[in-house]
Amino acid sequence: MELDLREEIHRQHLRMREVLEFMSSMLNGDTQTFFLLINLLGDFVVRLHSRLEDEVMFPMLLSWEDACGQGVHAWEGERKLIPRLKADHKLIETLGNAIGLRGKEFEPSILSKRFRQYSKIILEHNQNEEVMVERISKKCGEVPQKLMAVAAGRTKQIVDEFGRDKYEEFMRMQLL
Ligand SMILES: [Fe+2]
Ligand SMILES: [Fe+2]
Repeated sequence: MELDLREEIHRQHLRMREVLEFMSSMLNGDTQTFFLLINLLGDFVVRLHSRLEDEVMFPMLLSWEDACGQGVHAWEGERKLIPRLKADHKLIETLGNAIGLRGKEFEPSILSKRFRQYSKIILEHNQNEEVMVERISKKCGEVPQKLMAVAAGRTKQIVDEFGRDKYEEFMRMQLL
């Protein structure tokens, strides 16, 4: 069974939400775990998740629209949205790095404010991606097999480069 990139991205979005919620509960208590997780999450988001979207998901969506043949105008919204989503990835990386590298020096109230901002941007951003995929899916139905296969191959490569063990650990670690 071929990996479905849309499902995989969705699973990663759910996982990111779980980790963010857990971290939020650590903020006023176990800050050691909080800082451990901010680094794991930041690494996952930048080097795996955003990369997967920039290099595989977004190009797949654009090819899917082309193959679906609704004319250029039908997709103007998405074509404008993708560059904005890519710009969000840079912002998310910057905010995450600031907390990961300098967060220990922040006043607790500043740390909590910065983290809430980081968390909100990630969750809203992921939601926008889900809505966009839903919209394309409504117009175009299923992703063509050939595109799915190409995306699955590239996904495997990117996960391998990130480190399959690290990926599995992030996706499965117990949040207690
Ligand atoms: Fe994204
Ligand atoms: Fe995402």
